[in-house]
Amino acid sequence: LAKLFICIILAYLIGSFPTAYIVGKVFFRKNIFDFGSGNVGTTNAYRVFGPIAGTGVLFADILKGTLGAFLPIFIGLDRPWMLFVGLFAVIGHVFSIFLKFKGGKAVATSAGILLAYSPILFLVCFACFALIVYLTSMVSVASLITIVVFTLASLFLHDWILTSVACVVTIIIYVKHIPNIKRLLKGKENLVSIGLAYQR
Ligand code: G3P
Repeated sequence: LAKLFICIILAYLIGSFPTAYIVGKVFFRKNIFDFGSGNVGTTNAYRVFGPIAGTGVLFADILKGTLGAFLPIFIGLDRPWMLFVGLFAVIGHVFSIFLKFKGGKAVATSAGILLAYSPILFLVCFACFALIVYLTSMVSVASLITIVVFTLASLFLHDWILTSVACVVTIIIYVKHIPNIKRLLKGKENLVSIGLAYQR
């Protein structure tokens, strides 16, 4: 039990690493909170600092979830614990101890847990996500649809821990995307410079 507790704390600390904030401060001398959507995540890093920084933040934030999910395996626990412990990396990403408990919108780090747990499911979700970004040029729309599709699809796998964790992640993602949902309803959501809608 003590080892599990240490895993949870470590996962939280790994998740708390504020990648987009650090990239902004170190390489661009800018506080990402003050630019674009103000979000400390991949999409806003891409929007504000460009594709190289955005891609770097994407990989690092995915890695946080993947590392968090592998911690229980390192101490010999079963696979389902990956999802539970990985969730604490997502909580760290969203409520970072290094950012006064502010943070990102949970998407990349949650994807990282899935990459560790089931690379095939990760690829399916990534394809769905990429298609929606291509069609709409809106990452928020892709995030909001993909997580619901994934949670519903997980019901067919009869993996109740996966479905439960997916439900928790869905709630976190929707709550964190309330400003995006408000902008979407007004038709004012920010686009990213990728895909069909942006070109129109
Ligand atoms: O992953 C976050 C994305 O869904 C939205 O980001 O910066 O447009 O609010 P942003």
